[in-house]
Amino acid sequence: MPENIVELQNLSKFYRMGDTTVKALQNVDMAVRSGEMVAVMGPSGSGKSTMLNMLGCLDRPTEGCYLLDGHDVSGLDDNRLSEVRCSKIGFIFQSYNLIAQLNVVENIEVPLFYKGLSERESRERALKLAELVGLEKRLWHQPLQLSGGERQRVGIARSMASDPLLLLADEPTGNLDSKTGADILALLHDLHQRGATLIVVTHDAEVGAQCQKTFHMSDGRLGA
Ligand SMILES: Nc1ncnc2c1ncn2[C@@H]1O[C@H](COP(=O)(O)OP(=O)(O)O)[C@@H](O)[C@H]1O
Ligand SMILES: [Mg+2]
Repeated sequence: MPENIVELQNLSKFYRMGDTTVKALQNVDMAVRSGEMVAVMGPSGSGKSTMLNMLGCLDRPTEGCYLLDGHDVSGLDDNRLSEVRCSKIGFIFQSYNLIAQLNVVENIEVPLFYKGLSERESRERALKLAELVGLEKRLWHQPLQLSGGERQRVGIARSMASDPLLLLADEPTGNLDSKTGADILALLHDLHQRGATLIVVTHDAEVGAQCQKTFHMSDGRLGA
């Protein structure tokens, strides 16, 4: 396995808006090693979401190179990019993005639909993950019957369902009160201790302070 799970080399992303070009990311270099937990911080408009879209293979850079697990993914077409995304990346969202009609276990199983597991294997895996995130007493609840912190636990379990190489979290504590946010941060730490590689985009200085490395974004540029 390559030492760096993520390597961005001179990466830029430009958006054309009529006559003007928005330079959302400019000449970004970044390396994240296997097992690291890093934060990307910066004010609104600094390029954090654009950066996450690149890291998560949701979009392609205009210039530069993205090596994910040693493979250059910067030039892949949409189909190949989505294959890489489904097999290598787990996403944790600020607003959880759960499916309201599905219960906890079924929500966790969603990424497994594409994996070709049997129903039984998929159920076993979801139950284990629910337990790992502390939801063993909420297995059959639907999202509306859960607190914010519990919903985010479902989101985190789902992000790990397909055993991704890299977890990307977008403001994972952004919708939570400070006590619940601290619990969720502790859970992310716990996953990190178990070997997960995490990149957390956050406004929250508390979250940043608890990561091993913090990058700061400003006007599309990344600094330490
Ligand atoms: N799809 C888009 N088209 C045009 N401009 C965009 C698009 N997405 C983001 N931008 C611009 O790129 C810059 C960075 O935005 P974004 O990555 O969303 O920042 P952040 O997440 O840090 O708030 C902003 O100036 C924003 O207006
Ligand atoms: Mg954003």
